[in-house]
Amino acid sequence: MYVIAPTGPLRGEIALQGAKNSILKLMAATLLAEGEHLLYNVPHLGDVEIMRQILASVGAESSWVAPHELTIKVPRRGELVATPLREYVGKIRASVVLLGPLLSRCGEVELGLPGGDDFGGRPIDIHLEGLSRLGAEFSEQPHAVRGVCHQLVGDTVVLEFPSHTATDNMLMAAACASGTTVIDNAAREPEVVDLAQALCQMGAKITGAGTSRIVVEGVQELSPLRGYSVVGDRVAAATYLCALGMVGGEIKLEGIDPATMEILIRKLGAMGFEFEVHESGLMAQVDKRLRAVNIQTLPYPGVATDYKPMMVAMLTRADGVSVVSENLFSGRFRYLEELQRFGANIISEGHHVVIRGAETLVGARVTAFDIRAGAALVIAALGACSPSQILGVSHIERGYDDPVGTLRALGAEIRVEERE
Ligand code: EPU
Repeated sequence: MYVIAPTGPLRGEIALQGAKNSILKLMAATLLAEGEHLLYNVPHLGDVEIMRQILASVGAESSWVAPHELTIKVPRRGELVATPLREYVGKIRASVVLLGPLLSRCGEVELGLPGGDDFGGRPIDIHLEGLSRLGAEFSEQPHAVRGVCHQLVGDTVVLEFPSHTATDNMLMAAACASGTTVIDNAAREPEVVDLAQALCQMGAKITGAGTSRIVVEGVQELSPLRGYSVVGDRVAAATYLCALGMVGGEIKLEGIDPATMEILIRKLGAMGFEFEVHESGLMAQVDKRLRAVNIQTLPYPGVATDYKPMMVAMLTRADGVSVVSENLFSGRFRYLEELQRFGANIISEGHHVVIRGAETLVGARVTAFDIRAGAALVIAALGACSPSQILGVSHIERGYDDPVGTLRALGAEIRVEERE
């Protein structure tokens, strides 16, 4: 449980963690090459530990060799197991990205249905359709999907939606397919670019990552990553910016390319944030009550759905009425009831949330149901005028590396209590 007391302005510098939504895919990508891989800037997250267990269950053991350095030993083809342990697979959505590498390396895969945050239905039809275009054949098992292929063969694949993890899967399946694969309507997220760059370091031939048309020329074989540094986490950056928006102050974020957060920075600027943007980070300042804004979530480069819960929390104290519309996930609203416990004036209508900014929030005892919802509750608690308790914090720590230490270093009144 976190206990959070009313907090004054935040001040200080944060070296951003490596991105959760990149490292989990890079870990899966290591399965494409036999040998010992080395990754830098790896965040300590609950989800990374789950992915380590998943990799171990297929024969790839990993170990921490320095605080943020992870090695992964990938066995030769015949020793790699195509059935990751369901117990772990069911815990995180990112386990779906094992489909591509296991099909490519083993010619088969049996994957329990991926779990993760509960945002309403999270189908995997786009993944299966794309991989089928490369020659995989899938059959549904109870609570699992089974795929086989003799040889993956490149083709043109138009994704029905620019799904982030489906694009990851296609990149990994295409890397060693025979011939050329064109992924059209691909996701453009910086973490997809990071995966493509890592695959290129392994010997893949990929162009166009970061645009909606990626071309992959299949190669025979890949070699291990000899020290790849994970891109900075823009969602963590957004989270600390929203905390700043809630209580004011001045913080410096290092280890993130501000160009990957351009629309968010513009929105925050419209609310009253002041920024000084550098090549590898930014300085942000808030010294007055923020103005309300309207926001809609969209695939990258739009405002990410992952920023939304924290932005909603921040807007609960802005001056005026904000409308936030969710366009990616049908059920990403569960945290609203928890925010209402702080006295926030929020109503949801369909996929819109209407927030009437209040002068004050009161402390509350609330529960985190997923990573970003949990982060939103921390932000609300920082801005409340009396102490709060947040339960279910293991969800928060699935996606944030030492959130308590990071916030405390900025002056936040937050501590951990073992008892829930
Ligand atoms: N969709 C389908 N069929 C599919 C795949 C997706 O209909 O086969 C739909 C989804 O239902 C959703 C939309 O497409 O409505 C977008 O889903 P997408 O596939 O892009 O999301 P994802 O790949 O499952 C990743 C991140 C999420 C992030 C989204 C959107 C990982 C492990 N997860 O999920 O991150 O919200 O992209 O950017 O990369 C988080 O970090 O907290 C998190 C949830």
